[in-house]
Amino acid sequence: NAAAAGAIGVIVANNTAGPLSGVTLGQPGVVPTGGVTQADGTALFGSAGQSVTLDMRYHEDLKVARNVIAQTKTGRKDNVVMAGSHLDSVEAGAGINDNGSGSASLLETALQLGAKPKVSNAVRFAWWGAEELGLIGSTEYVRALTFEQQLDIALYLNFDMVASPNAAYFVYDGDDSDAVGAGAGPYGSAQIEKAFVDYLKAGKNVETEGTDFSGRSDYGEFIAVGIPAGGLFTGAEGVKTASQAAKWGGTAGVAYDKCYHQACDNLGNLDRVALDRNADAIAWVTASYGVSTED
Ligand code: PHE
Ligand code: ZN
Ligand code: ZN
Ligand code: ZN
Repeated sequence: NAAAAGAIGVIVANNTAGPLSGVTLGQPGVVPTGGVTQADGTALFGSAGQSVTLDMRYHEDLKVARNVIAQTKTGRKDNVVMAGSHLDSVEAGAGINDNGSGSASLLETALQLGAKPKVSNAVRFAWWGAEELGLIGSTEYVRALTFEQQLDIALYLNFDMVASPNAAYFVYDGDDSDAVGAGAGPYGSAQIEKAFVDYLKAGKNVETEGTDFSGRSDYGEFIAVGIPAGGLFTGAEGVKTASQAAKWGGTAGVAYDKCYHQACDNLGNLDRVALDRNADAIAWVTASYGVSTED
């Protein structure tokens, strides 16, 4: 990713670059799938003169996951606009809709924005690791920030599944006025919701609906610490209603993504019209906040 590296400054250099040279890697997170190893057992008990054998039947290797973080070289660093998408998939498949769609849209936004001379606010991009293992990459990232560093983030935008093959046009319900079960997000989340709703209406003539904003993706830890957030979603295992099919096209009675978390989430598993509209919305809203976070 040399092109992105040329245009976009990098932060958080606590890792070796390796094959991703040019883009500085974020914090490594050790995914605790395993528990103790034979070596751990020997280290713990060996000095006490015990002979230790662990039952390794349930042992899994420890896995390392990483976040990739890139930031514009220009713009206020105390009013950072942050946008993220998870880069991992479930093991069952390639994860093209979940979440190639979000992470590729965000990469294109970064490439285009990085080539521009200036933004008023720094824009920080995150490609999260280990989302599918429990939002681990994003959660560890937010928790590792100091309170001051958290205060420097004006808002967070999240893109996880934005081109489902039987697409809905959902916007995270930051004001809790139009989705079931969700609480309102931190103050400012309503403004972000409105930015997406207005762009899709005015720019694409698409009527959106609010969707659950309770933490089922990487924005969860951001709103937990009080950072306003928002984002787009075209639906997972939920089933499209008749009125949604009338409004958006597609098939009523069928899941928004019938290949959700399956091997068939491949290159055929995309609504390219939804991808195009949402990628434009992602670019527009991200860049707009890069210019100004005022109303
Ligand atoms: N986070 C879910 C996944 O990656 C997808 C999802 C996003 C579900 C947003 C609900 C709301 O599988
Ligand atoms: Zn998933
Ligand atoms: Zn996902
Ligand atoms: Zn709403």
